[in-house]
Amino acid sequence: MLIDPFGRNITYLRLSVTDRCDFRCVYCMAEDMTFLPRRDILSLEELSEIAATFIELGGKKIRLTGGEPLIRNGIDRLTRDIGSLPGLSELAITTNGSQLHKYAAKFKQDGVKSINISIDSLQADRFRQLTRTGDLELVYRGIDAALEAGIERIRLNSVIIKGHNDDEIEPLVEFALNKGVDIAFIEEMPLGVMEPERDRRWLSNEALFERLSKRFDFAPCEQSDVTNGPARYQSVKGSNTRIGFISPHTNNFCGSCNRIRITVEGRLLLCLGNEHSVDLRGVLRGPNYARSTLKKVMTDALQIKPERHHFYDPNAPQIVRFMNATGG
Ligand code: GTP
Ligand code: 5AD
Ligand code: SF4
Repeated sequence: MLIDPFGRNITYLRLSVTDRCDFRCVYCMAEDMTFLPRRDILSLEELSEIAATFIELGGKKIRLTGGEPLIRNGIDRLTRDIGSLPGLSELAITTNGSQLHKYAAKFKQDGVKSINISIDSLQADRFRQLTRTGDLELVYRGIDAALEAGIERIRLNSVIIKGHNDDEIEPLVEFALNKGVDIAFIEEMPLGVMEPERDRRWLSNEALFERLSKRFDFAPCEQSDVTNGPARYQSVKGSNTRIGFISPHTNNFCGSCNRIRITVEGRLLLCLGNEHSVDLRGVLRGPNYARSTLKKVMTDALQIKPERHHFYDPNAPQIVRFMNATGG
C-alpha cells in the first residue's frame, strides 16, 4: 500500500500522456506555447509500465490527462493496455472533447468508466475566445458519442471566470440536466504565468452555489456516492445530475488527498500545488531497469508528499508550471 506520512492512502494516479493540446484555454496555456521534444516525453511503453507498477503497489484508479490526451498517437493502445491491468478498478479520462467522437466506443470497450469533458461556454464565439481555437460543435459531438457508447460516468468541467462566462452557470446546469450528465464548476487555480488580471477575474464557488440554489433544488450527496476527489457534490432533486464544486481556494480538500500525478516528462509530482517531485524517467531509462526499482522509488517518493497546497498563501513561491504539462 502507498501511505504517506500524513496517513493518506494513495490509490489514484493522474497520468499526463502529452503536454500538447489542440486548444489554448486562457487559464491553462500561453498563446505561443512551446512543447517538449519527443525524446523528453514518456513513450507509450513507459506510460504503461508506470501504470502497471502503480497498480502492483495497490493503486486502484488511473486517470489519463494531458494536455489533451486524445491527441497523443496511440492513446487507444494505452487505454487497451492499462484497461486490462488486473487490480485496476477504474480507468478514467479527462478530455477537451474535440476528438472524443472518434474514440468513445473504443474507450467503452477498453473499460473506461469515467470521462470528464471540459466545456466553459455554450456560445460558439465565446467558446472559441476562451479556448482560443476550439470548435464547440465538435465538443457537443464528443459528449453525445460518450453517451451513445454508454460510458458510466460523464461529467462536464467548467472553469468559471468573472466577466467571461459567469453568466452561463444556469444554462450550463440546464445543459447537464438535459443530457443527464454531471457537471463540475472549478475555481481557477493560479498556475503558469500570472497576469494581474487573473486575480481580479477569480470567482468563488460559494457565490455560484448561492446563485444556483435560487433556481435549482439541491440535496447534498452522500460521500459514499462520490469519488474521493476534490469535488463536493450536490444532486439536483428529481434528476440523476450532480453538480460538483471544485474549490481549491474556499474549501481545502488536501486532508483527504488520495492522488499523485506523473508529468509528461516522467516526473512523479506529489502535489499539484507544490514543486516536490521525483524523476521516474531516469529510472525507466537507466541501465538494468527492473520494476522492483521503480516500485521502491515510487514508494519512497511518498515521504515528500506535502501536507497541502499553498496556492493562496502570499508568502509561498508562485508555481510556474503550466497545467497542460502537469495533468490537471
Ligand atoms: P475525479 O477523478 O472524479 O476525482 O475527478 P477530478 O475532479 O479530480 O478530475 P478532473 O481531471 O476533471 O479535474 C478537475 C479539476 O480538479 C481540475 O482543475 C484539476 O486541476 C483539479 N484537481 C484534480 N486533482 C486535484 C488536486 O489534487 N489538487 C487540486 N488543487 N486540484 C485538483
Ligand atoms: N485552474 C483550474 N482548472 C484548470 N484547468 C486547466 N487549467 C486550470 C486552472 N488554471 C482544468 C481544465 C480541465 C481540467 C483538467 O483542468 O478546464 O477541465
Ligand atoms: Fe487544452 Fe485542457 Fe489546457 Fe484547455 S485546459 S488548453 S483543453 S489542456
